[in-house]
Amino acid sequence: TYKIIMDTDPGIDDAAALTMALNDPEIDLKLVTAVAGNVTVDKTTANALKIVHFFDKDVPVAAGAKQPLIKPFEDAARIHGESGMPGYDFGDDYGQPIEKSAVEALRDEILAADEPITLIPTGSYTNIALLFSQYPEVKKNIKEIIAMGGTLSEGNMTSAAEFNCFTDPHAAKIMYDSGIPIVMVGLDITLKALLTPETLDKLSTLGRAGNMLHGLITHYNDGDENGHPMHDVNTIFYLLHPEAIKTEEMWVDVQTEGPAMGETVGDIRGAYHDGKTNAKVCVDIDTEYFNKWFLEEVSKIK
Ligand code: BDR
Ligand code: CA
Repeated sequence: TYKIIMDTDPGIDDAAALTMALNDPEIDLKLVTAVAGNVTVDKTTANALKIVHFFDKDVPVAAGAKQPLIKPFEDAARIHGESGMPGYDFGDDYGQPIEKSAVEALRDEILAADEPITLIPTGSYTNIALLFSQYPEVKKNIKEIIAMGGTLSEGNMTSAAEFNCFTDPHAAKIMYDSGIPIVMVGLDITLKALLTPETLDKLSTLGRAGNMLHGLITHYNDGDENGHPMHDVNTIFYLLHPEAIKTEEMWVDVQTEGPAMGETVGDIRGAYHDGKTNAKVCVDIDTEYFNKWFLEEVSKIK
């Protein structure tokens, strides 16, 4: 089994990623921490709780950073709706976050783990940057970070920057400079692995979980007639099926100023870091397999 922690900002694709992580029998999800991103942290925390409660799982949820380290907070409600998870009524009874803050909960859970943890951030990396600055001792018990965010080519927020890295570029820089091996699950693959209209149709026939995801995804303002990018779900797909994703090792530097703020510069020629690397960057994905796997995962949920 894979012991993981998810740091997330649900968000429709985050909700789908959480669905897979909570239900796949190979995954042991220890903790969910929420961060401001797609919507405010109060809403992302509530949304994470709604998904955990929907599946009746006993996984703690902790609330994290209200805003990026330095940059003012800007949400993505135009993509994910005012609530962050429109299209399904989760009711009002979904419990409370634990009392510890995300950073304290991350520290305690990582240090207590009997084997190194895989950290999976699918929002901006503010909680993780705060964790590494305050408690650097956790680093030795993190196996790998599989992070949605970044791009080697165009951004989806600015010409250069992807949303999670653009939202908190200073945090992204701290994470990439942390010395922990990173898998960059960026737009280079997430914009390829579209959930097709056929897959979306089939989802609604797959019971309660499929219905819920179908409701959310039909309210998701990202994508076009070819399908919807399920950005965050690619992290879980990589965890379980790395053979379906091509990666290239390189150094990734994050820009924090000016028009390239939030850009992830992949040193593809090894020009700046003496051939050293800090990341495996995902560059290609088996899209058909991704769609097939997505449906299989949901159909297995009881
Ligand atoms: C990322 O931005 C968010 O809106 C999505 O949830 C995903 O994490 C894609 O750029
Ligand atoms: Ca997200």
